[in-house]
Amino acid sequence: MLADLNEFQIAGCPVRVGGSSPEALQQLLLSQFMGNSPVYVLTDSNTRKHCYPVLQRHVPALSEAICLEAEAGEQNKTLQTCERIWMQMAESGGNRNSLLINLGGGVITDLGGFAASVFHRGMPFINIPTTLMAMVDASLGGKTGVDLHGLKNQIGLFANPAAILVWPGFLDTLPEREILSGAAEICKHALIADAGMWDKIVKGSKEPLLWKEYILPAIKIKTGIVSSDPLEQGSRRLLNFGHTLGHAIETWSLRNDAIPLTHGEAVAAGMVCETRISAQIAGLPAEDRRFGHYPMNEDAIASIARLSVYDKKNRNGKHLLSLLRSVGQAADGIPCEPRLIAESLRFYASYTQSFFY
Ligand code: GLY
Repeated sequence: MLADLNEFQIAGCPVRVGGSSPEALQQLLLSQFMGNSPVYVLTDSNTRKHCYPVLQRHVPALSEAICLEAEAGEQNKTLQTCERIWMQMAESGGNRNSLLINLGGGVITDLGGFAASVFHRGMPFINIPTTLMAMVDASLGGKTGVDLHGLKNQIGLFANPAAILVWPGFLDTLPEREILSGAAEICKHALIADAGMWDKIVKGSKEPLLWKEYILPAIKIKTGIVSSDPLEQGSRRLLNFGHTLGHAIETWSLRNDAIPLTHGEAVAAGMVCETRISAQIAGLPAEDRRFGHYPMNEDAIASIARLSVYDKKNRNGKHLLSLLRSVGQAADGIPCEPRLIAESLRFYASYTQSFFY
């Protein structure tokens, strides 16, 4: 199915998924961005090495492009990194009629989208996600931004890319841990919207590259939700299932671990906690216990519970969660007492098996 090029729109933004190479970019550059100059390609050290050469081989229109490189990792999704990008663009004649191509995972698409959309009050950008997580979630839907002292995505804006090109061939060089990070977001999409897909995931093979078959269905779920609520006034909050606690756990890990959790690993832990709460207050009939384990002591639990207050869905200091009513059906804006937040983390921490890396 992904050998064919699938074309559709997400909230008015063209998405192209599949194809035998990333050459769809050549056609896009020639048809829509001939006059845009300079053209920048934002990479991190991994995509500079593994993905940029592939793009150069298939897209001759990039021969004059200027490659910008940000340091890899969520720790670098900051205003300081944006400032470096803005300086490099300013010094090389960047302007509102330039073009930024974001080639990377969620850090690069969030960061590059934000940097482009405020530089000279906004220049066009294209997302080319290279991780499973960015293909099925981060690159889609116009959320851009950076972290604030490790607090996730506190600074940012909604800004749609000019196009999103998803070419799954980039996954062939991705480490297994990164594939699993994306798999967590695929599971989230299934849990909130498609019980049949969840069933298939649970029964199916967990070979890393076999997750490719869920790319298109997962993108379609996100497309449906985002297109009906692009600015997250209501139903788009469903996509945040697992993220109130997931972001708090991720922030805690970024501040305390030498090798921090990936976004997907933190969201997987957050989904376990929020599944527990779903069973307590949202009517979910069964608990799911399939994700791995991240050890937390009482101090960590107290800190993570405090960090969860920074979630953007909260109002007046009260937690409002997106939870599961059943597998395949979610609801947003459910008030949750702080004691249930801490209790769900304790429930999670009581697992005995060790984490998978
Ligand atoms: N990643 C959640 C959203 O795009 O709304």
